[in-house]
Amino acid sequence: MKQLNGGSQMTDVWRIPAVGMWEKTCGKHPTQKPLRLLYRIILASTNEGDTILDPFAGSCTTGIAANLLNRNFIGIEQDSDFIELSKRRRESLNNPIEAQKLLKKMRETPEETTVLVNHARTKDYELMIEKGMRYLRAGDSKGSLLVQKGFERLGYILLHTNGENTQLFKLSKPGFQIWTAENLQTLGFTAENAPYYAVLRFEASKPIQFNQQVNLQQRAYTNVAKIQPLSDFISLK
Ligand SMILES: C[S@@+](CC[C@H](N)C(=O)[O-])C[C@H]1O[C@@H](n2cnc3c(N)ncnc32)[C@H](O)[C@@H]1O
Repeated sequence: MKQLNGGSQMTDVWRIPAVGMWEKTCGKHPTQKPLRLLYRIILASTNEGDTILDPFAGSCTTGIAANLLNRNFIGIEQDSDFIELSKRRRESLNNPIEAQKLLKKMRETPEETTVLVNHARTKDYELMIEKGMRYLRAGDSKGSLLVQKGFERLGYILLHTNGENTQLFKLSKPGFQIWTAENLQTLGFTAENAPYYAVLRFEASKPIQFNQQVNLQQRAYTNVAKIQPLSDFISLK
C-alpha cells in the first residue's frame, strides 16, 4: 500500500473514478463497484492463491479483480440476471488480450506514482548509483528526458544498461534540478552532449525490490527515458 502511494502511508480517503464504460461491456449492475477499488482492497488484505468470498456479489467485481490478481473467488448472488452478467464478465477473462487490458486499466489511478525508466551508459551507471543522482538531457533524443504525462507524479527511477542491471530507486527529492555540464564533469560524469542537464536525486543506498518482469526492449528507441506507473513493477507477479 505504501509503495502504491509513492512511499508514504496510504491515505484513508481514496480518490478513485466512478465505474467506467470499460467495466460495463458485459452489462450493467445498479451498484457496481469500480475494479480499481477492489484491486486495492484485495492487494491490501490477501495473498496470491487465497480464496475470497463475496456473499453479496452483484456483478462480481470482487471476483473479476480477484481472478486477475491470481486469487480464487466464491460469489453468492440471489438475482439470476446478475449471475448471468457475472458469468459473462468471467468468460471475457478467458480472452488473454481482454484480461490484460482489464488488468492494466485496473492498476491505473489518476494519482498513481510513476517511475522514470532510463538507460544509463555502463561508464556512468556505477557513478550515478554512488552519487545517487541521474542526469539527462532535455528533449526527445537518445538517452534524454521528455517531460510527459505522469512526470508530475514521478517518485521512482529505474536504471538499466541496455536492459541489464535493472535497479529501482525512490527519488529523494521530487522533480529535478538544472545543472551545468561543467558541474557534472567535476563529479566525474561524462556529460559531453549538452551545456545543461536535468538532475534527479535518488536514494541509492536503498534499492527497491520489485517482483515483475520488465520488458525494456519494447520500443524502437529503448534508450529514451519513459514514464510508467509504479504498479508495472511492484505488487503483481
Ligand atoms: C451492492 S450489490 C453488490 C455490487 C457488487 N459489489 C458489484 O460490484 O457489482 C449487493 C448485491 O447483493 C445481492 N443480495 C442482497 N441480498 C442477498 C441475499 N440474501 N443473498 C444473496 N444475494 C443478495 C443483491 O441482489 C445485489 O446484487
